[in-house]
Amino acid sequence: MTNFIGDTHGQWKITRLQAVIGEPLENASHVRTEENAVHKSNAGIWTLRGFASNIRYTEKNEKEQLLAVQEGLGRQQATCAALIPIRKNEIWWALAQDERRAIFEKQSHHTELGLKYLPAIARKLYHCRDIGEPFDFITRFEYAPQHADAFEELVQALRKTEEWKYVDREIDIRLIRV
Ligand code: HEM
Repeated sequence: MTNFIGDTHGQWKITRLQAVIGEPLENASHVRTEENAVHKSNAGIWTLRGFASNIRYTEKNEKEQLLAVQEGLGRQQATCAALIPIRKNEIWWALAQDERRAIFEKQSHHTELGLKYLPAIARKLYHCRDIGEPFDFITRFEYAPQHADAFEELVQALRKTEEWKYVDREIDIRLIRV
């Protein structure tokens, strides 16, 4: 599990903490991450907790395209980051797997759209619905300052998709490395 702790100190300084939809998150000035954390942290102002999991919707050809271009977190030049916790509503979770995949890719082109921004944007998806957390996902991104506008464009495009009609809580946290 990874703990993302909102606090008064940490590796990442918060430049924006904005509720896009739904209940806001308390203000904090920094985020620090604890990888491989056995317990949820009680420290700090809030803790978001999630784990990397297997893919759900990605098809083989998409997986191959992603693997061919994507870069990992922790690149020297990637001093900007975004942490975007997201929850989807009960209508989404009541759908069958194939219905969700159709909304995610056929209607919303999530992977197709996202692929255009690789390798500039590094990404990692954490799941947290099944561990009783307030969000279903924590999405994490890292990029160099010159790609900040491109990242903004991608986020805005995704928020206009059919998939996002099912998002009922989303917090946009932007960070710069300390
Ligand atoms: C940087 C380019 C991006 C690419 C290439 C990308 C690609 C993907 C892929 C392939 C999946 C499916 C994983 C699976 O099969 O389970 C996924 C899931 C997801 N992505 Fe992205 N994504 C990108 C950007 C974003 C952004 C900017 C956000 C948030 C604003 C976001 C939010 C999510 C969420 C919440 C999920 C989980 C959806 C679900 O399981 O219902 N992604 N993404």
